[in-house]
Amino acid sequence: MRLYINVDHVATVREARQTDEPDPVRAAVLAELGGADGITVHLREDRRHVQERDVRLLDETIRTVLNLELSTDEEVVELAREWEPYQATLVPERRQEVTTEGGMALESGTRERITGAMERLADAGSRVALFIDPEEEAIRRAADWGADAVELHTGEYANATSDEGREAELDRLRSGARAARDLGLDVHMGHGLTYENVAPVVAIPECEEVSIGHSVVSRSVFEGMEDAVRTMREIVDRARRGLRDA
Ligand code: PXP
Repeated sequence: MRLYINVDHVATVREARQTDEPDPVRAAVLAELGGADGITVHLREDRRHVQERDVRLLDETIRTVLNLELSTDEEVVELAREWEPYQATLVPERRQEVTTEGGMALESGTRERITGAMERLADAGSRVALFIDPEEEAIRRAADWGADAVELHTGEYANATSDEGREAELDRLRSGARAARDLGLDVHMGHGLTYENVAPVVAIPECEEVSIGHSVVSRSVFEGMEDAVRTMREIVDRARRGLRDA
């Protein structure tokens, strides 16, 4: 199970003052020391948190791998091609949203734009993942369109307010993960995962990677980044061991 740590919100704090601290690059190095297998950042079109400088320096500094989240915006895709991140995860982006609100719409109207971006990123040598809702049709299209992986959106699961709701969302994730794997896609998951809710998600056998940001950055304010990641690492590994021992 790969644990990728998203350091966007370290940059959010920096941008609140438009200064040079805290530095997401420094946070990424500490996240690696705490046990992260990779670092995720989202270079948004409006540059509200992560800046080009951050991606450039992360690319040069980290010892693990870089997972760059991006929209299909031509300028951002071109930058990604220059950086050649290990992995590029395409996500939908709306200016007004506080955070990514749902998976990509894989429809005939968006096909050309999305597959065009996928081809350009793959040409540059990146693995390409599509962030989608855990729905069969979207998963089938992701495979048809040539994605290497899907990141299944765990936001509905994270936002569920009852045990029944959570269980229903977990079932959607479980069957989505099975369907994706049957189609030869690698299965990642992310969004809204926390210390409290991550275990059942990483216990889904087909899930190979999770990307977690807000909850870890929040804890790092009190505990430091290295310890915050180490605690998440322990929870993830314990849940995974439970799966093996079952
Ligand atoms: N995965 C994707 C595709 C995302 O857009 C985000 C948020 O940037 C995350 C994972 C991480 O979500 P969170 O910050 O809620 O852990």
